Amino acid sequence: MRKLAVFGNWKMNKLLGEARALAQSLKAGLAGTTGPEIAVFPPSVVLSAVARELRGTPVGVGAQNIHYEPGGAFTGEISAEMARSAGAQYTLIGHSERRHVFGETDQWVNLKLKSALEAGLVPVVCVGETLQQREDGATREVVQRQVQAAFEGVESAQAAGVIVAYEPVWAIGTGKTATAQATQEVHAFIRSLLAGAFGEETAQAMRIQYGGSAKPANAAELLAQEGIDGLLVGGASLDADSFCAIVTAAAGQAQQ
Ligand code: PGA
Repeated sequence: MRKLAVFGNWKMNKLLGEARALAQSLKAGLAGTTGPEIAVFPPSVVLSAVARELRGTPVGVGAQNIHYEPGGAFTGEISAEMARSAGAQYTLIGHSERRHVFGETDQWVNLKLKSALEAGLVPVVCVGETLQQREDGATREVVQRQVQAAFEGVESAQAAGVIVAYEPVWAIGTGKTATAQATQEVHAFIRSLLAGAFGEETAQAMRIQYGGSAKPANAAELLAQEGIDGLLVGGASLDADSFCAIVTAAAGQAQQ
């Protein structure tokens, strides 16, 4: 069985003191938790402080974004290597807010994925359709384009360590969750794309998370679906109790 991955994307929230306090609460709330792989993605400016708080705990740390170049004149950006040296083990790649608010292209997502792999970070590649695209019946087409572009030129051996997060854009931060059934179908479709690119064995080993208004009330139902291998949690990860409750739901699932 694939190990469930429960990740918290803090987005542009938490000042230094708040970030430390949340990390301390997670440390206390999740001490001794076994089963799911757990990580939080704080803003890069507090990443090293959060990583320090969480050292030696079951909670890993990741960056929300990286640039694909290793260094140079890219004002305001951070490289994969920098994120890693600040304590990140993971990085989100192509989150929908990066794509839709900041104009990140499929090609950038591909370059960032390769850069993350080169630096030894575990990439979490986010894909998902907008409401308009879903209403137009273009969900599969969009997801296919995003997945294929993201993994262009990536070898099977490297792809095996990549996590994909399916996040329908209309479900992010809206309180609307895709039904477990509809989500499962898209996950199966993504896995079939991965199988086509990397072979069945690699595709079966890869984890596909769901993201979009995941919360304690729906976590268990989502995680019970075959092929949903974890959750990428935004809003509900900003509160220690709700994030811990989601991890607990995943731990319960992992034991079944
Ligand atoms: P949400 O965000 O849980 O607040 O919908 C999820 C995400 O954007 O990763």
